[in-house]
Amino acid sequence: MSNEDKTAVNTILGVLGALVVVAFIFYFVANTVTGDIAKGAEANDRMQAKILENIRPVGEVNIGSVPADSGATKAVAAAGPRSGEQVYNGACIACHASGVAGAPKLGDKTAWAPRAAKGIDGLLKTATSGLNAMPPKGTCADCSDEELKSTIEYMLKKAGL
Ligand code: HEC
Repeated sequence: MSNEDKTAVNTILGVLGALVVVAFIFYFVANTVTGDIAKGAEANDRMQAKILENIRPVGEVNIGSVPADSGATKAVAAAGPRSGEQVYNGACIACHASGVAGAPKLGDKTAWAPRAAKGIDGLLKTATSGLNAMPPKGTCADCSDEELKSTIEYMLKKAGL
């Protein structure tokens, strides 16, 4: 081998060595950079969550479905049917306390006795449909049959029947 050849071989070996070194450097740099990118993505997620948390609205309108068993129906259910006395004081008292238009007065046995002869079901029927000046259901439009019945019973009891 001539001296020139030796120099050429050394140059080639030197270049190859340098390339290997550069390759390693690239490998490590690439590794480090991508590692950081992966870590960065994680940090980014945390940051996003934090921002969303910070700009979260103070209140939210709840437009969820109204439960079938809402508080209103519960209140009515809890109240149950009104007593005869309650219905009387709410609706019937207007006429039956003073005997308006010939209404049998509360506690007037003579006025109630012939009517009581119809029986509670007969009275319930006329009270529901109305009778002459007696308006249907005695103006208690939302009264159930049960409530009207206990109201009539209350009135009969007050008349001592
Ligand atoms: C607007 C006045 C008025 C109101 C309010 C009223 N009544 Fe009367 N009621 C009458 C009159 C008048 C009669 C007598 C009707 C007749 O025999 O001509 C009567 C009669 C009755 C009778 C006897 C019916 C029969 O067959 O003889 C019953 C029972 C009765 N009322 C129940 C009630 C009840 C219960 C209420 C309340 C929920 C009520 N009334 C509210 C005026 C009223």
